[in-house]
Amino acid sequence: MDVLGNKFAYIATYGCQMNSSDSERYAGQLEALGYRLTEEMDVADVILLNTCCVRETAEGKTLGKIGELKHYKERNPELVIAVTGCMAQEWQERLFERAPHIDLVIGTHNIHKLTALLQERQGKSGHALAADMSLPAFHDLPTKRFHKFFAWVPIMNGCNKFCTYCIVPHVRGREVSRPVAEIVREVAQLGKDGYKEVTLLGQNVNSYGLDLRDGTDFGTLVEALETVPGVERIRYMTSHPKDMTPAMIDAIAAGSRVVHHLHLPIQSGSNAMLKRMNRGYTVEHYLDLIAYARKKMSDLVLTTDLIVGFPGETEAMFQETLQLIRQVGYDMAYTFIYSPRTGTPAATWPDQVAAAEKSRRLQCLMDIQNETSLALNREMEGRSYEVIVEGPTKNDARHWFGRTRGNKMIIWEEDGSVQIGDTADVMVDKGQTWVLKGHVIH
Ligand code: SAH
Ligand code: SF4
Ligand code: F3S
Repeated sequence: MDVLGNKFAYIATYGCQMNSSDSERYAGQLEALGYRLTEEMDVADVILLNTCCVRETAEGKTLGKIGELKHYKERNPELVIAVTGCMAQEWQERLFERAPHIDLVIGTHNIHKLTALLQERQGKSGHALAADMSLPAFHDLPTKRFHKFFAWVPIMNGCNKFCTYCIVPHVRGREVSRPVAEIVREVAQLGKDGYKEVTLLGQNVNSYGLDLRDGTDFGTLVEALETVPGVERIRYMTSHPKDMTPAMIDAIAAGSRVVHHLHLPIQSGSNAMLKRMNRGYTVEHYLDLIAYARKKMSDLVLTTDLIVGFPGETEAMFQETLQLIRQVGYDMAYTFIYSPRTGTPAATWPDQVAAAEKSRRLQCLMDIQNETSLALNREMEGRSYEVIVEGPTKNDARHWFGRTRGNKMIIWEEDGSVQIGDTADVMVDKGQTWVLKGHVIH
């Protein structure tokens, strides 16, 4: 609290876009309670860490941060420390045992409880846990959006896939879709409020609507959103090769606002691995799917996720992954070292790959992917692309950036010709591995 009696809240978000979106609902509740958001932990009356547990590295980072907070609590015993999100759901009361200075642990289906838990405290101390997964995942909550032109719109929560390495279904629960009408209403409102781009979020957007049992699916949602005025771009993530259908690809290709960027995780180029991962598709099915998508959208930007060192992955199987990424030519790939997660089947399998070997494979994979990314970005040189202007880059205020419809980042020297939030055309002068350099043409 400051001398004027203002109360402050600090929020740190880890993990995926779903967590970023949830943080906006935590921020909305905090604002409704009279807190102002701050970037300074020192002045905060509430510190909220919205956490991820998808890999050990994510958990490690958060545990380090939780450790740091002990000093803040010692200095200010009134401080409320809340740990929320997937790791909170996974660890529950074990977090209090590990770090008694935590006050609140709030799971993924209990976001709405923050308000009551803070009101009930009224200066009292003590631990409170809210992690009942049987509650609905979605609640009508005040939302404080962090961006002015870009908005997250969760269309579903949870995952039914149970890939054998993955903790997400355990901490997010089963799939629950929001009704089409509700999503359409939210997107329409965003359009009226001046938002230019929305990202539809789900762990597997291609199984959207199946639980509603009224014939809606991701394709019909995309078609319904096409008629909503206002928003310029509609992104969607993440897609799943098992559930994505040609009809959904048709809907994306036919839409004028849904972008031609497909993030379609393959995870491995070996059918034996895919089977053990319980992914539910083969490499051949995947290749057919992207061939169809490329036929329908000649400008398709294709990205993926890959895991190296999954239990039982031999050198030959790893080579199949390298072969696959060469063949497909991804614009970008998120590459991960397999991380055993307690409670998932693969964590108990005996044929774990040695850490050094996993690192070697990751490096090898990244080297090849970087070559491809560079080559594809170079092909963009001399062509102009539409971007939405996001403003200065992190490191240098004189350089501004924006993203193309395919989600590529272009950086240019600020020349006063465009404002943040403008849609502008930028000529690409130089393609690099991660970004493109260019200049604004109008
Ligand atoms: N629902 C999305 C992604 C969820 S997690 C999907 O199915 O694609 C994001 C990525 O993290 C996954 O695609 C996978 O590549 C990676 N991942 C998940 N669990 C992991 C683990 N235990 N070890 C390493 N990478 C993992
Ligand atoms: Fe995890 Fe698989 Fe579900 Fe993605 S589809 S969230 S990788 S279980
Ligand atoms: Fe992490 Fe949870 Fe997202 S585990 S990746 S924050 S759904």
